[in-house]
Amino acid sequence: MQVSRIDPADPAAFDAWFAVRDAVQRHDQADGPFWTSTEQRALATDPSPATRLLHWVAEVDGRCVGAALLELPQLDNLHLGSAKVDVHPDFRRRGVGTSLLAAVDEAAQGRGRRSLAIPVEEPYDRAAPAPPGVGFLERHGFTRRLDDVRRDLSLPVDDERLNQVGAGPPVGHPCRTPRTADADSD
Ligand SMILES: CC(C)(COP(=O)(O)OP(=O)(O)OC[C@H]1O[C@@H](n2cnc3c(N)ncnc32)[C@H](O)[C@@H]1OP(=O)(O)O)[C@@H](O)C(=O)NCCC(=O)NCCS
Repeated sequence: MQVSRIDPADPAAFDAWFAVRDAVQRHDQADGPFWTSTEQRALATDPSPATRLLHWVAEVDGRCVGAALLELPQLDNLHLGSAKVDVHPDFRRRGVGTSLLAAVDEAAQGRGRRSLAIPVEEPYDRAAPAPPGVGFLERHGFTRRLDDVRRDLSLPVDDERLNQVGAGPPVGHPCRTPRTADADSD
């Protein structure tokens, strides 16, 4: 297996990198939304001055089977790196992800980053099986630090549902009724 940095401005290299990311997002994140090649290419070749992006591929017998991305903030949080490691579903549990992570980690440390964040999407239902990223990252010493909840609203929204939401308390925020001093003294 060979892990190498790619120049995302090289169309063939970028296409190989994106093909793995696309296969993985469609396999592991069935409900989307999916990044498109156009969006990822634009990010890769015309990044914000606030973020530097580095790309890697992993190849087995000349076939690209893994892809990694390292994001390095340039203006603040200079101690941080944020990464993504993807391995094609047909090539997992052969050390490809570990090799990509090692390359990402070395590059991040070499640029003075002391902390690496890697997001993993998992089902809201904690009883559901954990996705592979959880075991992989635990195996490599990562610890869970920040949980986000993603909520999707399918469009178009049913009018009755909208009216229900509009009539109720703000969705997703705790509802608290302030108690007055008088009420407390009752
Ligand atoms: C997570 C992922 C990158 C792992 O890639 P991989 O090439 O299969 O990983 P490795 O073969 O290097 O695995 C190294 C170790 O991680 C752990 N691990 C990997 N996959 C695991 C799984 N599905 N369940 C539990 N532990 C797992 C194991 O300890 C494994 O060692 P072992 O195979 O000797 O038991 C791959 O499954 C993937 O692309 N998943 C979808 C995207 C994703 O979640 N990426 C990670 C966060 S960005």
